[in-house]
Amino acid sequence: MARVVGNPARSHFPIRMIDAVAAAAALVDEIESLAKARAASGGRLVVGLPTGRTPVALYAEWVRRTREGSDALRRVVTFNLDEFVGIDAEHSAACRSYMKKHLFEPLGLAPEATHFPDAANLAAYERAIVAAGGIDLQIVGIGRNGHVGFNEPGSPRDSRTREVALARTTREDAAAAFGGLDRVPTRGVTVGIATILAAKRIRVLAFGAAKAAIVREACSARMGPELPVTWLRDHADVRLIVDVDAAGER
Ligand code: PGA
Repeated sequence: MARVVGNPARSHFPIRMIDAVAAAAALVDEIESLAKARAASGGRLVVGLPTGRTPVALYAEWVRRTREGSDALRRVVTFNLDEFVGIDAEHSAACRSYMKKHLFEPLGLAPEATHFPDAANLAAYERAIVAAGGIDLQIVGIGRNGHVGFNEPGSPRDSRTREVALARTTREDAAAAFGGLDRVPTRGVTVGIATILAAKRIRVLAFGAAKAAIVREACSARMGPELPVTWLRDHADVRLIVDVDAAGER
């Protein structure tokens, strides 16, 4: 059962506490109903997507429900948050590879419906999002340093799609996928905080005890560039979705 925790007046983050499996089901419900409404007017839902461990259950549920016959879940246009710079698109640790494996191939999404920021043409990504009608639903995870996408500490609120230096913790968390810290790229390309805040709806996901400290800070720290996730508290339709472990209630 979901229930509201925390003091919204203090945290500024409307929080929904729910287990990761139920959160995946609820988010897929939301994606499906938005995609159906959009399809009724002949369009496609535009979703902004993260990679990482956090959304694995969401993508598995999305695929399962599509295979069960929900065609609406296939009628989406996607924009990913970020990508490593300086690696081949086919590299197994690339965000592109992750998305292909977890969502795009199982869903049978046409490559033209999927987008990733490209360091060689940053402004084109912002233009493509606008041309698609803007992001209807942006899903993000939280890095243990408070990053969203590759918006590392220091990211200003008015940031847009750009190339950035990756934080040490971000590279450490990617080390296993790359086969060692020294093989992890030092730079990434990411949408900006302003790009994320321009989405119509934002859902921030955090599961597991390892996220409890950053979730607490995300809710209570002063809003600012030191903890980029705090910028998202200012959105009119943002929700932080956590399980009991990430909420620090166990
Ligand atoms: P994770 O990464 O889902 O693997 O914890 C979250 C993030 O860094 O944004």
